Amino acid sequence: MTRRSALIDTRVIYCGDCLDQLAALPNHCVDLIYIDPPFNSNRNYEVFWGETKEKRSFEDRHASTQAYIEFMRPRCVQLARVLKETGSFYYHCDWHASHYVKVMLDQIFGENSFVNEIIWKRQSAHSDAKQGSKHLGRVHDTILLYAPGEDYYFKHLYKPYEDEYLEKFYRHVEPETGRRYQLGD
Ligand SMILES: C[S@@+](CC[C@H](N)C(=O)[O-])C[C@H]1O[C@@H](n2cnc3c(N)ncnc32)[C@H](O)[C@@H]1O
Repeated sequence: MTRRSALIDTRVIYCGDCLDQLAALPNHCVDLIYIDPPFNSNRNYEVFWGETKEKRSFEDRHASTQAYIEFMRPRCVQLARVLKETGSFYYHCDWHASHYVKVMLDQIFGENSFVNEIIWKRQSAHSDAKQGSKHLGRVHDTILLYAPGEDYYFKHLYKPYEDEYLEKFYRHVEPETGRRYQLGD
């Protein structure tokens, strides 16, 4: 049975703690959720933003990983509530808490709603594996994708191959149509 989705005004930016803001939204009204929340990095951040160099800061220190998870849990419960059955949910995190986040999200969305673990790999270790360090470079973030319904919206994005690639891997041309092809097993 498909649940009815509520409509909300999409021209509004809601500011404040997402826990309070989400509580005011109806069930199943959102198509796509991507969150880039604090990662449990045990740091506080200050960034200077935009042309006016406005100072923005947020705290990412928690008493423990469990405390971080208990901070995020009610917010993710609200996010799961507002997500449509055809919607999808992306949680961006990293090695600090990704394994604990996965378990929390399995509990909220259900293990069977887990779709993908997406690895966002950096080109370099950003000095994370400098001389003297006692670990390998931590070079990726993790994005966990959940979709509550089987019929969730998902579209692969394709773009044309570069000419150089086509010439190298699709060397044969069908005379009648001019279409390129490759020989394979
Ligand atoms: C890792 S940063 C994401 C930055 C953002 N994606 C960007 O590229 O500028 C985490 C963000 O979560 C925000 N945040 C922390 N706690 C929050 C809460 N309870 N409700 C809403 N936002 C929160 C912080 O203010 C911070 O901007």
